[in-house]
Amino acid sequence: MNYLDALNKRYSVKKFDPEKSVSADALYHILEAARLSASSLGLQPYKIIIAQSADMKEKLIPAFYNPSQISTCSHLIAIVSKNDIESKYIGAYFTQISETRDVSLESLNPFRESISKHIDRLSTEQVITWADKQCYIVLGNLMFAAALENVDTCPMEGFKQDIIDEILDLDITKEKVAVTLALGYRSEEDDFQNLKKVRKPNEKLFKFI
Ligand SMILES: Cc1cc2nc3c(=O)[nH]c(=O)nc-3n(C[C@H](O)[C@H](O)[C@H](O)COP(=O)(O)O)c2cc1C
Repeated sequence: MNYLDALNKRYSVKKFDPEKSVSADALYHILEAARLSASSLGLQPYKIIIAQSADMKEKLIPAFYNPSQISTCSHLIAIVSKNDIESKYIGAYFTQISETRDVSLESLNPFRESISKHIDRLSTEQVITWADKQCYIVLGNLMFAAALENVDTCPMEGFKQDIIDEILDLDITKEKVAVTLALGYRSEEDDFQNLKKVRKPNEKLFKFI
């Protein structure tokens, strides 16, 4: 599908068809778009949890303010941001660069030091904000890839932080759910699919200088 057609067809689904599941193949492609996402400094300060069993989705219902998507979706993806970027984590990243690109660890030292210094200068709140921003890049890529795969989605921030973190068994001293994305296929009963998109006109959105 042409990507603009896919973006026009995409809307935030309120009710999915509970009888339809996203195939393993389509899911793999969509998740690959998450894996290939760009991130600040390449540090990928997140992990991605995919709730696919009926049991787990059921458990997650109380964590959402409006759970009609959760009770009907095929998969619920939680993008979990990581806020403890300690030297061990940065070290593992550099080991991976060195092995993947077949370069010595020593040659990467200047880059490693500048990254460590940059992260060290940030307060915990700044690290959380920074990590959350990276999660939203993943979210955008997942939504775009899903639209191209003809899979419908609803991005969702309307969850209760403490409840969702607990259900997903997160270590809240180091991580939290940043944002979630429900995947599935729109229900014919979902009237939202018939609404026109409300978007700023070009002249209000873009400024050419
Ligand atoms: C980060 C983010 C969080 C959102 N959270 C919710 C949500 O919790 N529940 C919901 O029904 N829609 C949610 N939405 C959907 C927006 O309301 C929707 O994208 C916007 O109104 C534009 O409509 P459209 O996506 O159908 O084109 C969210 C969208 C984004 C990008």
